[in-house]
This record gives sequence, structure tokens and C-alpha cells, in this order.
Amino acid sequence: MSQNAADSLSSLLTARYGSLNESQIEPNDILNGLLSHRSVRAFADKPLADGTLELLVAAAQSASTSSNLQTWSVIAVEDKQRKQRLSVLANNQDFVSACPLFLVWIADLSRLKSLGLKRDKPHESLEYLEMLLMATIDATLASQNAAVAAESLGLGVVYVGAIRNNTELVAKELGLPPKSFAAFGMCVGHPDPDRPAAIKPRLPQSVVLHRETYDDGAIHETIDGYNATMDDFYREQNMKPLGPWDLHSLNRVRGVDALQGRERLVEILKSFGFGLR
Ligand SMILES: Cc1cc2nc3c(=O)[nH]c(=O)nc-3n(C[C@H](O)[C@H](O)[C@H](O)COP(=O)(O)O)c2cc1C
Repeated sequence: MSQNAADSLSSLLTARYGSLNESQIEPNDILNGLLSHRSVRAFADKPLADGTLELLVAAAQSASTSSNLQTWSVIAVEDKQRKQRLSVLANNQDFVSACPLFLVWIADLSRLKSLGLKRDKPHESLEYLEMLLMATIDATLASQNAAVAAESLGLGVVYVGAIRNNTELVAKELGLPPKSFAAFGMCVGHPDPDRPAAIKPRLPQSVVLHRETYDDGAIHETIDGYNATMDDFYREQNMKPLGPWDLHSLNRVRGVDALQGRERLVEILKSFGFGLR
């Protein structure tokens, strides 16, 4: 392995963990791309090259899919007014209207339902929570393939879970059929070179990687270290520190008021025709 290639992988790993990190593995373009990910929330006013959307969808469709059922769809929103309305529904996050392409990833059991009706075949399994989980997992895998493909083209992405704050209005805006729901959105566009995003450090592997059996022995001291790493990261980025990562994360799960409308999801999904048995 050339010294340059090894150095580039080490510097990406160091950025990902906020402390010196090295790997003996030969780097490649895919690893470099994956390890370089950062969410982009500032987009240049520049259209995507023709054919980009179709290539992203081909990458998405290339992901594994449970039993090849392909229980997902994606809605490509490029219309300015529709993006603007979705931006308001997604907690007023203005990058949703600023990006040239907003992809909405749909957990979609409606296709199997209509095939069942056409073929006059039973399809009762669609009424179970398992099938909604399957569709959501498949949509997620597909979307992440599209994200990686977009980043490989020099584009930036950010996922937008905030559309679930207004699940019903989003479904109405997109004309979703029963037995489908918009799991999350994704902004795609050229990153604004004047407002670059940085690689955000992750938890040390010692708390997420368990060998053979689950072991959370070192969690507390490790999290203290990560709180400090994140504090340094926000300072280096000239961003207002959010406070210790653990407290910030706990605030996000403090209770029903933190769910911003998503506490009604079971009821909403049932009204969309998901059985959730
Ligand atoms: C499913 C999902 C939903 C997300 N929703 C939002 C969102 O609504 N707004 C936002 O600014 N970032 C959102 N994000 C981005 C995360 O905040 C981001 O991935 C995380 O802070 C790590 O930063 P990084 O992607 O730059 O490494 C979402 C990410 C995921 C995976």
C-alpha cells in the first residue's frame, strides 16, 4: 500500500473518531467515500446533471431487498412550491426547499396489496408489524445506496426524518396510497463550497462493537470521552456546542413533547391501512 493511500485512510479514520486512528487494510475509493460522509445542509444553486436521478434510483434498486419483495418506493420532488411546502412540514428546515432534489423514501406495501387483489390471492401477512418493518428496512437500505452513489458523484445529502412530524400532511402532499408511508426524506444537491460540512466524530468502537456477546462494561467512561470529543468538534467548527452528547441525546428522548407529533404514529399508520398486528 502506498504511504499516501495509507495516510488518507488514517486521516479519515482519525476524523471519524476524533482521535488518532489507523488501519492496515488497503484503502479503495468506496472505503474513502464511505468514511468521508458528512451531512450537507447548504447547497449551491446548481441543477443536477441529467440522468442523476435515474442513476441514484438504479443504485437504490441494487441494494439487497427482503425476499426480493422490493417493498419500497421513492418520490422525487423537484417542484419549487412542493419542496417549499414539504420544508414547512419538515420543521421549517430550509435546506429542503434549497436543494435541487428532495427524495422521499416510502415504505410501500400498497403494490403487494394491489397485486393480491388483481390475482385474487390472500395477502393477510401485510397486516402484520413485521411487514411494515420489512418495508422500512428495505426503503432504508435503498436510500443509503442512493446516498453513497450521490456522494460518489461529488454531491451532498442529508436525511430528513422531520417529515414524520407531519406524516398525514406529507402523505396528502405526495398522494400516497393506503398501506404506504413516507419514512424519511433526503436532500440531494451540490454542496455550497462556501459553507462546507465536516466529518462528524462517532462513538468509539468499544461501545458499538461487541465481540461474541453483548458487553456494555466500558460505556460510562467511554461516553465521557466522546462528550469531550464532540465538544472539541463543535468548537473547531465554530459551532455553538450542544452541551455533552449524552445529555443532548437524552433530551431528544425525554418524553412525548420531544416527539413533535410522531407520538401519534401508531394511530396514523393504522389509519393508513397498516394492520400492525
Ligand atoms: C433517518 C435520519 C433522519 C434524519 N433527519 C434529519 C433532519 O430532519 N434534519 C437534519 O438536519 N438532519 C437529519 N439527519 C442527519 C443526522 O442528524 C446526521 O446524520 C447525524 O447528525 C450525523 O452527522 P453526519 O451525517 O454529518 O455524519 C437525519 C439522519 C437520519 C439517518
